[in-house]
Amino acid sequence: MTNQDTEGRMRVTSLGAALGAEISGIDLRESLSRGRADEILEAWRTHLVLVFRDQALSTEDQRRFAANFGTLHERRRGGTSFAKDKYGLYEGDPTIREDPNLMLVSNVRVDGKPIGAVADGDMWFHIDSGYSERPYRYTVLHAIKLPSSGGDTLFANMYKAYETLPEELKAKIAGRKALHIHEYKRTAKVDLSKDFSTSPHYFHPVVATHPETRRKSLFVDRLMTARIEGLEAQESEDVLARLFDHAERPEMIYAHKWRPGDVVMWDNRCVTHGRTDFPRQEERILRRCTIEGDPIQP
Ligand SMILES: [Fe+2]
Repeated sequence: MTNQDTEGRMRVTSLGAALGAEISGIDLRESLSRGRADEILEAWRTHLVLVFRDQALSTEDQRRFAANFGTLHERRRGGTSFAKDKYGLYEGDPTIREDPNLMLVSNVRVDGKPIGAVADGDMWFHIDSGYSERPYRYTVLHAIKLPSSGGDTLFANMYKAYETLPEELKAKIAGRKALHIHEYKRTAKVDLSKDFSTSPHYFHPVVATHPETRRKSLFVDRLMTARIEGLEAQESEDVLARLFDHAERPEMIYAHKWRPGDVVMWDNRCVTHGRTDFPRQEERILRRCTIEGDPIQP
């Protein structure tokens, strides 16, 4: 009997025409065989976003599960006041304290200080760490506590966004790079009139080729992509606005309504994501880990 026989059958159910699949029949607290991990990877390459319901992962479980798919990203310790002050203070889960592999996404505050990152309200579409030389390959997010409404995560299929662009727009962006800047905002355009040299930033190809599927995707997002290299400022603005509007059309999107216990993971090389608003006074806590990535290939 192989490992996969003892693991039982994994079921993959599509979550709509755009992207996303629910995976059932797996308890993520158990160690995965390599065969099972490969099965998940195959579903991931096809569906881009995978949803596992009714999981209850400890920090160690989450770390072990995510490590099946690459090298866990480690936060720099104390590198910035941002990291030092905002992470690892969640009293309900003391094991997360000082854990460099995990980060809370939460609006909860302890003694006035947020326990996690990107705290309140809605958030524009973005790529996790898309402003860095090596954006995270994957994000694995586990829901612990949720508001009574809102706070949905919207995922956009950026393969489909690229493939359905008008040919004249494809021609305008072919071979170009764009500047991605992180200004720690949630719903505002990057301000290029200010000096951004101290903000994390990087140029990536506008059209990326996925290293495994070899498919082309649009690698831009409304929150952090500031400028297309080689175009006049106004033309860059116009082209980016058209790209963002196109990539956020309903037919590109899967909207995830969170339930406590959900584990949702996505591929940052071909998916952007954003968040809907939620009541500010209600607590929302999710635990995130990420997998190290590589330079984005044209
Ligand atoms: Fe994000």
